[in-house]
Amino acid sequence: MSKVHVSHADIAQYANDKVNLPKEWADEYREQASRVREKVTTYLSEHPDFTLKKILLSGSLAKGTALKNLNDIDMACYVDCSEAPSETKDLLDYLAVRLRKAFPNMKPEQVQPKTYSVTISFKGTGLDVDIVPIIYDNDPDWYGKLISQDDGSFLDTCIPRHLEFIRKRKASSPTHFAQVIRLAKQWVKNMKLENRDFKFKSFMVELIMAKLLDGGKDFSDYPEAMQNFFTYLATSDLKEIIKFNDYYSGSQIPAFNERVKIIDPVNPKNNAAKLYTNQQVNAIIEAALDAGDAIDAALTATTKERTIYYWQKVFGPSFQI
Ligand SMILES: Nc1ncnc2c1ncn2[C@@H]1O[C@H](COP(=O)(O)OP(=O)(O)OP(=O)(O)O)[C@@H](O)[C@H]1O
Ligand SMILES: [Mg+2]
Repeated sequence: MSKVHVSHADIAQYANDKVNLPKEWADEYREQASRVREKVTTYLSEHPDFTLKKILLSGSLAKGTALKNLNDIDMACYVDCSEAPSETKDLLDYLAVRLRKAFPNMKPEQVQPKTYSVTISFKGTGLDVDIVPIIYDNDPDWYGKLISQDDGSFLDTCIPRHLEFIRKRKASSPTHFAQVIRLAKQWVKNMKLENRDFKFKSFMVELIMAKLLDGGKDFSDYPEAMQNFFTYLATSDLKEIIKFNDYYSGSQIPAFNERVKIIDPVNPKNNAAKLYTNQQVNAIIEAALDAGDAIDAALTATTKERTIYYWQKVFGPSFQI
């Protein structure tokens, strides 16, 4: 590939300057999450019958795939199923009441139930911590029913294994796997600015990237890795099932009728793409075709100005070198 005007190193520099969450911020947010975790853990150790059994950092901050504009810290909290209300709203109220017990120094209004999570807001600086409940029935591997942040439904899944799944891929492709994910998420963010209805969940992007990595694609050259991602979307049309065998075998996957099948790597019965309509998937494919064309054009453009113009079609106006 010709990279005279914008090279792999330029994309890496752009990622560093504009896309990635700076390390100092990430450390500070992780520390904020550990303080929340410590409060809950201490309260639990002093009150063994407390029904909040575990709390952990989840989401992009835990996976190392967060973008610079991260706007809250995601945590997941295991609620003992024996007492947990089955209605979502009641469950969130219940979680808020219990969290307030663990945070006696906070004003009750700092702990607020939202639609599908409970938010803890801190005074002064720092981000809000968004806590999602998981109904827990003592599974030794920490499976439980996670409240979907998309529609409030209960998803049988396992956050610690999701983290392990990503960690494994990061170990086989240090730096690059997570970086290419963040670049793809930057593309999604840019597509959302252009089209308010565009959606492409981060978890799905990560699983597609994991499939490409597992299939032997090279992630160390960012223009090429991005092009591989867009080519995969365009040529597969997202019609083939995306699955993994870290935690189960293919024979355990039931038949799914949904347009896109990206199977949760920790639960063969959960299709992580089940909410996507034909129209939404077509928009993803179209956008991937455009992005692939833009990268091709960037790689053959004869001036630096044109090259930047094409990369901006992928990443938006923040792309400058
Ligand atoms: N459909 C799903 N099935 C199972 N688990 C899910 C599903 N959706 C989300 N999760 C869990 O929630 C976590 C957060 O996912 P999501 O991709 O929505 O946000 P994120 O990684 O925090 O990215 P960002 O907030 O930057 O967009 C996932 O890593 C996964 O553990
Ligand atoms: Mg998140």
